[in-house]
Amino acid sequence: MVQLPGFIDPHVHMREPGATHKEDWYSGTAAALAGGVTMVLAMPNTQPPITDAESLNLALEAARQKAVCDYAQYLGATPENASIAAELAPQTAGLKMYLDHTYGPLRLADMTDWMAHLAHWPYEMPLAVHAEGRTLAAVILLAAFFERPLHLCHVSRREEILIIRAAKERGLKVTCEVTPHHLFLSEEDIPALGQGRAEVRPALASPRDRQALWDNLDVIDCFATDHAPHTLAEKDGNTPPPGFPGLETALPLLLTAVAEGRLTLEDVIRRYYVNPQRIFRLPAQPETWVEVDSESTWEIRGENLLTRAGWTPFEGWRVRGRVMRVVLRGTEVYRDGKVLAVPGFGRNVRANAM
Ligand code: NCD
Ligand code: ZN
Ligand code: ZN
Ligand code: ZN
Repeated sequence: MVQLPGFIDPHVHMREPGATHKEDWYSGTAAALAGGVTMVLAMPNTQPPITDAESLNLALEAARQKAVCDYAQYLGATPENASIAAELAPQTAGLKMYLDHTYGPLRLADMTDWMAHLAHWPYEMPLAVHAEGRTLAAVILLAAFFERPLHLCHVSRREEILIIRAAKERGLKVTCEVTPHHLFLSEEDIPALGQGRAEVRPALASPRDRQALWDNLDVIDCFATDHAPHTLAEKDGNTPPPGFPGLETALPLLLTAVAEGRLTLEDVIRRYYVNPQRIFRLPAQPETWVEVDSESTWEIRGENLLTRAGWTPFEGWRVRGRVMRVVLRGTEVYRDGKVLAVPGFGRNVRANAM
């Protein structure tokens, strides 16, 4: 049995308010605990999207009643809310700007809207972007105009990771995250997964892109699941929404890579705990740890997961390392596949900032 820190996932979708048939604050944070994650940062592309005080309170009230791990909620940037967002900043995980098409209605098309947010959003609060390819280069440039830190979500391609390397080498304050699915899957997996199930943004990339992520591991600050649950009926339907559930499979996949010598345990702890805590300015969780049976080998099965999505793109994968027990702030919250925490045990880690 190895004892690890409670992991911090800076990119998850809880689907509440608005789409609790996909996930809610209980099922999503239960999935987090099952994956050894004790703190999640929730994205704002819910229904309604989280863009003002009223919608923020909708999400935070649902979380207050249901969450079983600690959390904070992102605010979404719109063309209209730059000054309101800045006022709400202390109560949020950070600001999310969607700059390319993905799931949900939040998207900033006009670059002058990006600039308004880059100028208004408090310097010390996290600012994360969905920006692919040339959009990523453009937003790095604009953030540099304002000399402000910028976090790049779910980096998936060779050109992106090399641009981030170049930006870091020039002293720009950029950080980035990579998902397990972009580290372990590629477009070659699409036929076996099926088109609908394989839909994800950024799309699964080429094996060469995937290899570039591994070759530039030193540039990757965080691992983040981008846990984006949609039901199987939706994924197998006529208009499959993009997104994979990932909270329960991330740590086993990463620990399997450790067992295979592709990563060190230190690599995992740094990117899934130390760096997220530092980059997103998150408080320490005292008396919090995860107990993992590092020898246990098992097969990933969608039907055994706690996420309401009920499926996984890693169906049938043999992994090594199983979360046996999670202790959060001195309380046993998960053991042997069962969530023991009562709904509402999770705390808003930005709550005292109001
Ligand atoms: C995410 C979702 O479903 O909310 N989907 C995805 O494919 N990653 C949106 C996002 O993170 O871009
Ligand atoms: Zn378009
Ligand atoms: Zn995204
Ligand atoms: Zn996402």
